[in-house]
Amino acid sequence: MFKINENYLKLPGSYLFSTIAKKVNAYQAEHPDCKIIRLGIGDVTQPLAPAIITALHDAVEEMGDARTFHGYAPDLGYEFLRKAIAQNDYSDRGCDIQPDEIFVSDGAKCDSGNIQEIFSVDNKIAVCDPVYPVYVDTNVMAGRTGTYDPKTETWSDVIYMPCTAENGFAPQLPDETPDLIYLCFPNNPTGATITKAQLQEWVDYANRVGAVIIYDAAYEAYISEADVPHSIYECEGARTCAIELRSFSKNAGFTGVRLGFTVVPKDLKCGEVSLHSLWARRHGTKYNGAPYIVQKAGEAVYSAEGKEQLKKQVAYYMNNAKVIYHGLKDAGYTVSGGVNAPYIWLKTPDGMDSWAFFDFLLEKGNVVGTPGSGFGPSGEGYFRLTAFGSYENTVEAIERIKKL
Ligand code: MLT
Repeated sequence: MFKINENYLKLPGSYLFSTIAKKVNAYQAEHPDCKIIRLGIGDVTQPLAPAIITALHDAVEEMGDARTFHGYAPDLGYEFLRKAIAQNDYSDRGCDIQPDEIFVSDGAKCDSGNIQEIFSVDNKIAVCDPVYPVYVDTNVMAGRTGTYDPKTETWSDVIYMPCTAENGFAPQLPDETPDLIYLCFPNNPTGATITKAQLQEWVDYANRVGAVIIYDAAYEAYISEADVPHSIYECEGARTCAIELRSFSKNAGFTGVRLGFTVVPKDLKCGEVSLHSLWARRHGTKYNGAPYIVQKAGEAVYSAEGKEQLKKQVAYYMNNAKVIYHGLKDAGYTVSGGVNAPYIWLKTPDGMDSWAFFDFLLEKGNVVGTPGSGFGPSGEGYFRLTAFGSYENTVEAIERIKKL
């Protein structure tokens, strides 16, 4: 008789954004005339930039001609894309990352969930609290997190690093030594960031204790302040302790196109074993590469026109962030984020719990956001709004919230 992976049964509830989608769909079905504004999941709304559309069309034409047709992509991704990434995202920022240290994938969500596979199940993970739920849930599935305490909403074998208003939503080095440290900056969900000096402390710490940092830089395009690092490889010593995850979803609107990459430097080793070779083995065995068409679209992100057009797109969303931030502040809310990230993190009014505020906002304002407690216990009493809506909807949502 077959047996299931019982770790899945330990997971409380369904995936955060699936739960929200179900609730919102049920509400919409009961109130078909309501115009619901969705500022919950960080999904983009603006069309792909013209340079990307042109690249997609051209690549489709290539696929229709036997002379330029492409089958399976190379294991690590096409050289043209890995070179463009290495140049633009790393060399140009003074980071020493080579094209063959970049693994192209279909997005950072999968990579952030899959990367734990190359580590022993005995490793102890440390996460920020609140945190993007994929990091914890995928470690639960792997059996790495111990038992769940529904009262505290925490796992016995996970080190939580609270990110609260008191510490400026920046985690402190943990008392207990972790093996794997998940960091995401600019942060999802709080929208906070840390400075290069603060990140350097994490790199030094990881090298000192022999930990690996899994650094999620999906929101780096939204950085507006000078002292905020775009990549962990801007820090000295990161090549021996850090893996970086990047996405094309937020900087180029690829949430529905799907493209991302993971950087595993060849200097990152456990004894004599390089993590690069393990991830290459995993990638080669379990993955057949992002589509050629999509990788060509990714290349266009780094073209001169692409860069110019995407700068405008990021500015468009960041203008929404301003509308949300200032609108809520004027209305008396306590807000943070929204300066180097497309997320605004607000304190729920009158001590309401996060899910109560979710229901209140959905029912009274027909606006959807994400309850802070869905990201971890320290998110209780907070709420996240995304700047990825259209400008018109964002303005309307804030007007509605102001009137509540
Ligand atoms: C979010 O809303 O936190 C993100 O959009 C989720 C994701 O990128 O997978």
